[in-house]
Amino acid sequence: KINGGMDRPIVLVGMMGVGKSSVGKRVAGAIGCDFVDADEEIERSAQMTIPEIFENFGEDYFRDGERRVIARLIEEADGAIVIATGGGAFCNEETRALILDKAIPVWLDSDIDTLVERTSRKDNRPLLKEGDPREILTRLRSEREPFYSRAPIHVISESGPHAHTVAKVLKGIA
Ligand code: S3P
Repeated sequence: KINGGMDRPIVLVGMMGVGKSSVGKRVAGAIGCDFVDADEEIERSAQMTIPEIFENFGEDYFRDGERRVIARLIEEADGAIVIATGGGAFCNEETRALILDKAIPVWLDSDIDTLVERTSRKDNRPLLKEGDPREILTRLRSEREPFYSRAPIHVISESGPHAHTVAKVLKGIA
């Protein structure tokens, strides 16, 4: 097997800004398998950016697309793939059940300061526009923790370079 004996997709879940895409790309590189960013797939199939989807059609529409895109990615996967999901994806009951059943979810987690710092670098998260980003991230993280914690592998991403986090993910899935 190309992905080191793993016969299921590896799906990174966790808060926005935690580094799912950066870490996912590097994990896939280390395993020698493909990497897919679910948010990018949603944008590709909608022919719109995520802020545009939220603005034109609202969050529920985005969530529906997110659920369908992730289901397709998992159904189409032949095992050798790393998938990064948007922060809310694993909070959807159907998506979570599918990931738990067919994939290996890895919860990437970090402290609020790191999330605030990393999300401030890019202006592409509609949910953070609704108020103070630190407050929103703190609230979402505590609301979502019960879902994220269902992932069998929990990796803490510290601030700074991702290499250490990548190593911990590789160890977790080995
Ligand atoms: C969201 C996270 C984003 C994106 C959308 C909603 C969330 O993805 O899916 O803005 O609900 O946490 P990232 O986690 O990649 O930032």
